[in-house]
Amino acid sequence: MSTDPLVVFTPSGKRGRFPKGTPVLTAARQLGVDLDSVCGGRGICSKCQITPGYGEFSKHGVTVHPDALSEWNAVEERYDQKRGLKPGRRLGCQAQIMGDVVIDVPPESQVHKQVVRKAASARVIEMDPATRLYFVEVDEADMHEPTGDFERLKRALKAQWEIDNIRADLSLLSKLQPVLRKGKFQVTVALHRGHVESPAQVLEIWPGLHEGGLFGLAIDLGSTTVAAHLTDLETGEVKASSGIMNPQIRFGEDLMSRVSYAMMNPGGDREMTAAVRDAINTLAEEIAKEAGIDANLIVETVFVCNPVMHHLLLGIDPVELGQAPFALATSGSMALNARELDLSAINPRAQVYVLPCIAGHVGADAAAVALSEEPGKSDDLALIVDVGTNAEILLGDKTRVLACSSPTGPAFEGAQISSGQRAAPGAIEAIRIDPVTKEPRFRVIGSDIWSDEDGFDEAVGDGGITGICGSGIIEAVAEMRMAGLLDESGLIGSSGATGTARMIEDGRTHSYVIHDGSAKGGPVITVTQGDIRAIQLAKSALYAGARLLMDERGVDKVDRVVLAGAFGAHISPLHAMVLGMIPDVPLDKVTSAGNAAGTGARIALCNVAARREIERVVGEITKVETAIEPKFQEHFVAANAIPHKTDPFPELSKIVILPNPNFNTHGDGSDGGRRKRRR
Ligand code: FES
Repeated sequence: MSTDPLVVFTPSGKRGRFPKGTPVLTAARQLGVDLDSVCGGRGICSKCQITPGYGEFSKHGVTVHPDALSEWNAVEERYDQKRGLKPGRRLGCQAQIMGDVVIDVPPESQVHKQVVRKAASARVIEMDPATRLYFVEVDEADMHEPTGDFERLKRALKAQWEIDNIRADLSLLSKLQPVLRKGKFQVTVALHRGHVESPAQVLEIWPGLHEGGLFGLAIDLGSTTVAAHLTDLETGEVKASSGIMNPQIRFGEDLMSRVSYAMMNPGGDREMTAAVRDAINTLAEEIAKEAGIDANLIVETVFVCNPVMHHLLLGIDPVELGQAPFALATSGSMALNARELDLSAINPRAQVYVLPCIAGHVGADAAAVALSEEPGKSDDLALIVDVGTNAEILLGDKTRVLACSSPTGPAFEGAQISSGQRAAPGAIEAIRIDPVTKEPRFRVIGSDIWSDEDGFDEAVGDGGITGICGSGIIEAVAEMRMAGLLDESGLIGSSGATGTARMIEDGRTHSYVIHDGSAKGGPVITVTQGDIRAIQLAKSALYAGARLLMDERGVDKVDRVVLAGAFGAHISPLHAMVLGMIPDVPLDKVTSAGNAAGTGARIALCNVAARREIERVVGEITKVETAIEPKFQEHFVAANAIPHKTDPFPELSKIVILPNPNFNTHGDGSDGGRRKRRR
């Protein structure tokens, strides 16, 4: 048996014997242990830090003596003095194995570190970005060996990092020579490796060791807002998150009105493309400033978006998406150069990846949700809804995943609602109505205090109560239904029929007053019959889309529901169910995934293998087109009742008994009390 020292690495548990004097980094590489290095073992990058353990390790059958590693050397001393090493840490490229030893690789020294998402689900992202830093020593130019500087850089990358097949564009070549000389032929390159078979591309080069980091943007390009996460490509840490309104709103609020703008106005598509690219540049500049980094260090960008935004970002006329058969110019993923998209605010050689679209109505944003929530790996049948102006719906488990999109319209975001506003301080976001007194109590964004609690007025502050946001209107409608102020058909009762003076006449219909701020010059916040109708249309579209997928799958119930989207995070499961937005499941089976599309974008940014994974998964998803499916209309009509005309909600009825008033005494959709007076 070999008498060479035994080395055990934790947490991987990998072990092997190595001759005395072997650097820890070399042993780690030979065993396939995940230990980082940018400088290739030259003792200057400090990425290879390890913590040796000393003493008895019965679990590993090893006793580690104090001299198990070579002595602290001058390189480590210099680094410690300059930057400081944590107590107990050594540089893996400097410390040599002299005896049996147990070596821990701390998370920050692992290349493929796991980044835990903050959101509710425990999904972790494994770091494996497409672009990484490599430090190399390049041979100096020599008259006797007349090769180009770039050829010698390539030779160095091959010899020192075993990376072959490298290319660089002209703009990089034009800065190569001064940088090489400034760094005395020691340089750091940012190398992008997308597809395995495509050449590695040098995106940036710095003299000496570059320590300023490397960053990427994960962008969720929505029809209303553009949200970006600036992510450290080495650690996976989100350095800053920021959003901006999509300036295309001036061409049309929703997607179809933007498609019609492009149809009616020659060059309209180009105007919209320029507007959104401008906004992305502004956002990139702002977010880099917020994080305090040089925007030139942003070398990667990943986009997720719906099909219309996808085309408008890429500069493709979306006209075909406005009519059956809703053909995409391309449904595949896209790997592009930032310059092709006029992204001038970031590194000029930055690489862009756009996730694949699922279908003409189901975009890369839905693909990103699939990447983040992984319905195809679920043991039970999961319904995932990403609620926005369009709802993206995925239904699936290990056997099969289906997807569709449903035109819910902007009501769930507080638009087209009489007192509606976007989610901002002052907006009512939660509401309860006493079933006996019919009195409301509510909470506004920016305060945790309910309106009937002490200190509410002070907490709300000078801005006052300004309106009602998406989650607020859902709760308001569901609470009105639970309090008997609204019947199953969605008709609001009169004050006589409901017994509350909060019901006021509003033309031929009635409105419920939640808050009257008029005495102080503030708004009167009501829920009108029109608001109820807008919410009914939106929720019927959502439910009908889900039912269509369930039909395709041959089931009438699902095991769990995941609400995704920034808005999904704020929807109360109980109220969503009372409203009949989602199919009946036990309440504890409704969870929120936060901004799943944004998370999917981050995963694709941080892990290049995830890009291949989602390209494969999208190919296997069954697409269901709601617009041409006759059953959709049938489901839509049945879903108009609150919670539903025909589908039973047995789980809901275990927790809530819904009153059963009927405010339409004439069977014609109008309010009986008012009709009497008119007669
Ligand atoms: Fe760079 Fe050890 S590998 S300091």
